[in-house]
Amino acid sequence: MFESLQSLPADAILGIMTLFRADEDPRKVDLSVGVYQDEAGRTPVLQCVKRAERDMLAEQSTKTYVAIAGNAGFNRGSEQLLYGKGHPALGDGRVATVQAPGGSGAVSVAGHLMARARPGTKIYLSDPSWPNHLPLLRLAGLELEQYPYYDYALHRVDFDRMLAALKKISAGDSALLHGCCHNPSGADLTQEQWRAVTDVCERRGIVPFIDIAYQGLSEGIEEDAYAVRLMTERLPEVVVVSSCSKNLGLYRERVGTVSIVSRTRQERDVVQSNLANVARSIYSMPPDHGAAIVERVLHTPALRALWEEELAAMRARLNGQRRLFVEQLAARNVPMDFSFIAKERGLFSFLGITKAQVVRLREQYHVYMVESSRINLAGINKSNAAYVADSIAVVLKM
Ligand code: LMR
Repeated sequence: MFESLQSLPADAILGIMTLFRADEDPRKVDLSVGVYQDEAGRTPVLQCVKRAERDMLAEQSTKTYVAIAGNAGFNRGSEQLLYGKGHPALGDGRVATVQAPGGSGAVSVAGHLMARARPGTKIYLSDPSWPNHLPLLRLAGLELEQYPYYDYALHRVDFDRMLAALKKISAGDSALLHGCCHNPSGADLTQEQWRAVTDVCERRGIVPFIDIAYQGLSEGIEEDAYAVRLMTERLPEVVVVSSCSKNLGLYRERVGTVSIVSRTRQERDVVQSNLANVARSIYSMPPDHGAAIVERVLHTPALRALWEEELAAMRARLNGQRRLFVEQLAARNVPMDFSFIAKERGLFSFLGITKAQVVRLREQYHVYMVESSRINLAGINKSNAAYVADSIAVVLKM
């Protein structure tokens, strides 16, 4: 049977992470995979997570199954993070949520549900988007299309072209939008632009699919939920997928949610039963450990306050890092203007250099980034910033 299979190239992002780990050069710098790193280059376990985990393990008395939909306290807490406490959709009982194995698991469950609900549904991805959106949604049975998003020459969202493309989407089809901290570009829509996109979705009957994997890492927990809250107030149906990998540092624990806002409470109940059925058909139940930790963090006031503090520190470091990096490059008289990086948000920005330059940085200078020239700003710190900037300057001047 399997002799018909062919070997595949390594994953565009995780393949670079593997190369980095195998590199023994002491100067090596990892700007590839999207994990937060602190000044010491570590991806620490948050203190709020450590404490919640300790208490949870001390009190846990069984490892029996939880539920197909996962941890109810986690799901309710996640809904409040996404929609805000007084949101009308929550008040009306129109939100169906299941815990999913990470943001990727959430994308997959949502995709399967949409393909089941409306076979032949097309979903439009931003060009560019996170590379794993495409295989996850294609495997789920959706048809994939793209809308223009990033202007590589001007280093900003190409909003006019984006909006013009959205206006051509047929009613019932979907557009995948990054709620904040666009991956890979770091270029987000302004609130005014979100309102314009919401108008188009409303007029055309487009069902938005909002992937919010970085809530709290741009401007703040509430601010970063602007698009989710606006669209779910104004539109009858919205798909929202979230992740606790980045904002709670729970990467390997696989914690996320799929949350669907429906027109009515009755429709919501039908969606909830189908979400559970899809989850059961793919993996049966999500892992418990990470979600049980998040449940405690969200519902214990002291842990919640600690989390908000830790998240604010990560966000401040990322935004500060952006400004410093731009200054470092400018100080070397590089033949490119990188000031756009300071305006972008989240972990990522494109350097906007060529593939050959990316490869040279990796092979000669041990500076690792995704081939598209996406860098993870969190990987730059005081001890490597000068080296990274020097290496980029040399490669650009070659
Ligand atoms: C990334 O974009 O680097 C992260 O979301 C990790 C991943 O799974 O691709």
